[in-house]
Amino acid sequence: MKEINPIEIKDNFIKLISSDWMLIAAGDETKYNMMTASWGGIGELWGKHVATAYVRPERYTDQFIAATHRFTLSFFTSDMKKMLGVMGKESGRNFDKMKFEGLTAKTLPTGQVTFEEARLVLDCKVLYVDELQADKFLDEESLAKWYNDEPGGSLHNIYIAEIVGAWINE
Ligand SMILES: Cc1cc2nc3c(=O)[nH]c(=O)nc-3n(C[C@H](O)[C@H](O)[C@H](O)COP(=O)(O)O)c2cc1C
Repeated sequence: MKEINPIEIKDNFIKLISSDWMLIAAGDETKYNMMTASWGGIGELWGKHVATAYVRPERYTDQFIAATHRFTLSFFTSDMKKMLGVMGKESGRNFDKMKFEGLTAKTLPTGQVTFEEARLVLDCKVLYVDELQADKFLDEESLAKWYNDEPGGSLHNIYIAEIVGAWINE
């Protein structure tokens, strides 16, 4: 993998995140977990390049992010979409995602884990964390639509993170 300046990334992140999906991975090479995400954003805040991720507290991955305040976002070519489907359905609480065939862990110089198969990776350090709150929704429709599906489920944690490194696989 080759390190690049995030400003040089030519991809359309709206498409990448919402329709191609990404893996959020957290932990180190001895113990990590990852999950599929299609919500998030890339931009700028406080003079830094940032990534925002929305992770429900009941996700196993959330425990790793909360403990380390670090995560990576990994993007793949379309042939890996089936894998993203599995990682978005199954929880690492029920099977060891580190042993998933077809994903090879790669440790970045910061110690964070991504995957050899990824074509683009953002290494992220959390700057700010908060929880979405039901009484702050101006859009009742979204609250009803997205938070009635998992009874007992919580609203998402919001992680605003600095992009401390960007890597591409050529
Ligand atoms: C396409 C897709 C997108 C998803 N996006 C998110 C997301 O942005 N945030 C979230 O908390 N869960 C999201 N999920 C659900 C998690 O990926 C799923 O609950 C996963 O099994 C959690 O794994 P874990 O318990 O090992 O962390 C998504 C699932 C799919 C299939």
